[in-house]
Amino acid sequence: MRYAIRASFFDFRSRLDDVTLASQHARYIEEGVLLIDQGTIDALFEWENRDQFPEWQDYTFYDLRGKLIMPGFVDTHIHFPQIGMVGSWGEQLLEWLEEYTFPAESEYHDRAFAEQMASAFLDQCLENGTTSALIFGSVHQGATEALFSAAEQRQMRLIAGKVMMDRFVPEALCEEVSQSYQQTKQLIERWHNRGRLHYALTPRFAPTSTPELLEAVSQLKREYPDVWMQTHLSENPQEISWVKELYPEHQNYLGVYHHYALTGPKSVFAHCLHLEESEWQCLSETQSSISFCPTSNLFLGSGLFNLRKAHQHKVKIGMGTDIGAGTSFSLLRTLSEAYKVQQLQRYALTVAEAYYHATLGGAASLSLDDKIGSFMPGKEADFVVIDLAVTPLQKLRQSRSRDIWERLFVLMTLGDERNIRETWVNGRCAFQRPESGC
Ligand code: GUN
Ligand code: ZN
Repeated sequence: MRYAIRASFFDFRSRLDDVTLASQHARYIEEGVLLIDQGTIDALFEWENRDQFPEWQDYTFYDLRGKLIMPGFVDTHIHFPQIGMVGSWGEQLLEWLEEYTFPAESEYHDRAFAEQMASAFLDQCLENGTTSALIFGSVHQGATEALFSAAEQRQMRLIAGKVMMDRFVPEALCEEVSQSYQQTKQLIERWHNRGRLHYALTPRFAPTSTPELLEAVSQLKREYPDVWMQTHLSENPQEISWVKELYPEHQNYLGVYHHYALTGPKSVFAHCLHLEESEWQCLSETQSSISFCPTSNLFLGSGLFNLRKAHQHKVKIGMGTDIGAGTSFSLLRTLSEAYKVQQLQRYALTVAEAYYHATLGGAASLSLDDKIGSFMPGKEADFVVIDLAVTPLQKLRQSRSRDIWERLFVLMTLGDERNIRETWVNGRCAFQRPESGC
C-alpha cells in the first residue's frame, strides 16, 4: 500500500546529544506531504515543492489538511498485567506491590485471560497514539507469549519480557532460578527479532531477585548480547534501604545490577529518583537509559525525577507511563505531568524537549532510533494523526495560540487520547477514533 498524506508535520531530524537544543533540530511543515510505501517512509516535503516529487501522484492520496501528524509515541516503561489495577488507592511502592500488584498479576497464569487482556492493553496503547513500547510482562511464560502474539497481529515494534523474580513475592508468582532461566531462553528463541518484536530480560527489581537469579540474567545477557534489559531502580526510599540490607557488599543500588553486567546501551532503568552521584556516573559511563515516569512518581509519592542531573551526565531519557502505578496510557498527559514535576524543581521543560523525549528521544533511549521516531526516508511508518482541539476549552485556547510551539504546549497541557484521531503502524491505519468520521 502506498499513500501520499497531506497534512501538517512535526518531528526531529536527528538524535541529540544535548536535548536542551531540541528546538533547533525540530522540523515543522505547515503544509506537507508524506509518502509511505509498504510501511516505509519514502519522503516528506512541502506541498508547494510537490513538482520535485512527481511520483506522489502514483500514491493513494489522503487529504488530512488541518491535522497534525507526528511520529508515534514511544512508551519506555509500562506493565502489561497492571492494566486492571490502575488507580489503586492509598499505598506507596512496597505496600502497593503487596496489596494490589501481586494479586493482579497472579491472574495472568490463565492464558485465555492473558490473551483477552493483551488485546485490550495494546488497543489502549494504539488509542493513545503509542506505537512502540518497552513492556514488562507478568512472571508467566504463557501471558508473555500472548502479549507477543497480540503485538505481532498489530505489527507493532515492541520490546517485552517475562518478569523474573524468585523471592519476597507470593508463592504463586515465585519461580525457581532454573525455571526462570529456561522459560526466558525459550521466549528469546521464539520472539527476539521476530518481525518487529524484540526481547528484554526483565528482572523485576533487586529485592525480588536472589544473587543466583541475577547471575542467571547475566548469563542470558552473555548468551544473547543483543537482547534488551529492563528493571526498576531507586524509586522509593524504603526500597533503597531494603536493597542495601539485601546486598550489603555492593556500593549502592545500581552497583548490584552493574555487578551482574546488567548496565549498558540496551539497559533501561525505570524511575532513578534518588540516585547517588556515583550511580549517575555509572549510568553515564555504561550508556544506560532512564525511563522517566512522572504520573507514577506522583501517584505513588515516590519523588521528583531530576532531569537537569540527567542532562549534566548525558544520560539518555525516555518517557514511561508505568501503567498501573502510572495513571494514564497517554504520553500527552505524561508530558504534562513531566512539565509540572520539573517546575517543582525550577527547571522549565521546553516544549521541544518534551516531544523529543516522547518520540525520537524515546526511540534513541531504546536504541531503536535507526528504525522509528522521525519521518526520515527509510524509517518505518509509525505515526499519529492529531486533532489539536477537540473540546470547547481546547478550541478556545488553541484559537488564541500564536505559533506551533504554543499549540504543542497547549496540546500536552490540555490534551489526551481524545486528540488522537488515528494511529498508523507499519504504514497502515491501526486505530481510528470512531467519532472522527473518516
Ligand atoms: N518496582 C518493582 N515492581 C514494580 C512495579 O510493578 N511498579 C513500579 N512502579 N515499581 C516497581
Ligand atoms: Zn514499573
